Amino acid sequence: MERANSDNHALQKVTMALERTFSIIKPDATERNITGLVNAKIEEAGLRIIGQKRIHMTTEQASKFYDIHRDRPFYSDLVDFMTTGPVIVQILEGENAVSKYREVMGRTDPSEAAPGTIRAEFSKSIDANTVHGSDSLETAAIEIPQFFTDDEIVG
Ligand code: CMP
Repeated sequence: MERANSDNHALQKVTMALERTFSIIKPDATERNITGLVNAKIEEAGLRIIGQKRIHMTTEQASKFYDIHRDRPFYSDLVDFMTTGPVIVQILEGENAVSKYREVMGRTDPSEAAPGTIRAEFSKSIDANTVHGSDSLETAAIEIPQFFTDDEIVG
């Protein structure tokens, strides 16, 4: 029993890791002036914004960021859209931040997103889908340094 309890405790530690994930609030949200509403959803979920800045992505930055989608038919529209206006780049920290943020965002296509999620409430289409979030810890570790230096992260 003693052993089982300590195993459970160890498992809980493994499954409740403090993580960081990368987020972008996209041009459709800055255009509609709803970035505060998106941030409220993030904070209500228990995620902490430990890095944040408003930038206008260059075509070079957006092309590099979405390079993984280079061969998909939507790639050039995606790069164009991400450079149409300002975006907010963010680092979010919290327990299981990667999967938690994906839950808070909802499915990529807003018509499939669960009620109460950011994309269900605010998104117009799969292209103008309001937010991006890293799909894994490994991806977050690649995405974060594309937009933040260490001294811009204040945890
Ligand atoms: P994001 O999480 O930023 O990652 C890639 C983006 O491509 C995605 O959100 C969508 O906004 C956009 N996109 C457009 N069409 C598709 C599609 N068919 N499948 C996935 N992503 C798409």
